[in-house]
Amino acid sequence: MLTPGPIGVFDSGYGGLTILSQMRERMPEYDFLYLGDNARTPYGTRSFEVVYEFTSQAVRTLFDMGCQLVILACNTASAKALRTIQQIDLPKIDPRKRVLGIIRPTVEYLGDITSTRHVGILATSGTIKSQSYPLEIKKLFPDITVSGEACPMWVPLVENNEAQSEGTDYFVGRHIDNLLAKDDKIDTIILGCTHYPILYDKIRRHTPEHIKVITQGEYVGRSLMNYLERHPEMDVLCTKQGTCRFLTTESVEIFRQYASIFFDNDIDVKSVALK
Ligand code: DGL
Repeated sequence: MLTPGPIGVFDSGYGGLTILSQMRERMPEYDFLYLGDNARTPYGTRSFEVVYEFTSQAVRTLFDMGCQLVILACNTASAKALRTIQQIDLPKIDPRKRVLGIIRPTVEYLGDITSTRHVGILATSGTIKSQSYPLEIKKLFPDITVSGEACPMWVPLVENNEAQSEGTDYFVGRHIDNLLAKDDKIDTIILGCTHYPILYDKIRRHTPEHIKVITQGEYVGRSLMNYLERHPEMDVLCTKQGTCRFLTTESVEIFRQYASIFFDNDIDVKSVALK
């Protein structure tokens, strides 16, 4: 029998905190251990091989720290590394452990949300190039047409605390206009990057009112609860004391300072090296 532990939540940087806070809201009794690879972020422009290598190191570290279930709360890592980790790494590490991504949970509910059956995705270059969203959507809803737009400036703007600046308005407006120019029937836009909820107000302002803008946290939280209900054997491996701890590959001071953009609680954070 494996020893129960916290649910591991991994992101390349701070963006996964938007997912974590939603999961905690829905599942306050569970323990969480968040790992941000802040020293090596962003992943969005990195190759498949590098994103896989970094993500695999992070997953092993979370397993070593006692997690039996790890959520990749990063679209880029989910798009580029999840499948290989599930198919190649897990059978070698321990087939009873689990790693889940956030792309499938985000698109699962799409069928009830779009009326025109035309959907837009805003995400990092890596996620858009991987085609993970269109592929995942086609599997569940073959009648939905998907258009994507890479927004390479958005993560650096958020990580540099520029979310509220006028310069950011320019980049937000430009990418939304580009996306809508690709398909004028879009009635639903998915924010396919965990950083983008920080830009939500600006994104909403640049998007015509009739178009819905979907953030992932709510859906990922709902889907995780559903998963644990369907998998009681994994649920018993998740401890429930309501704690939340943080690990970062950057310095603790830097993590604390930037995490406050995403998470306003006082946080317990330690530095960790991935290898
Ligand atoms: N948080 C990552 C995602 O959701 C983007 C940040 C990065 O490029 O590392 O895709």
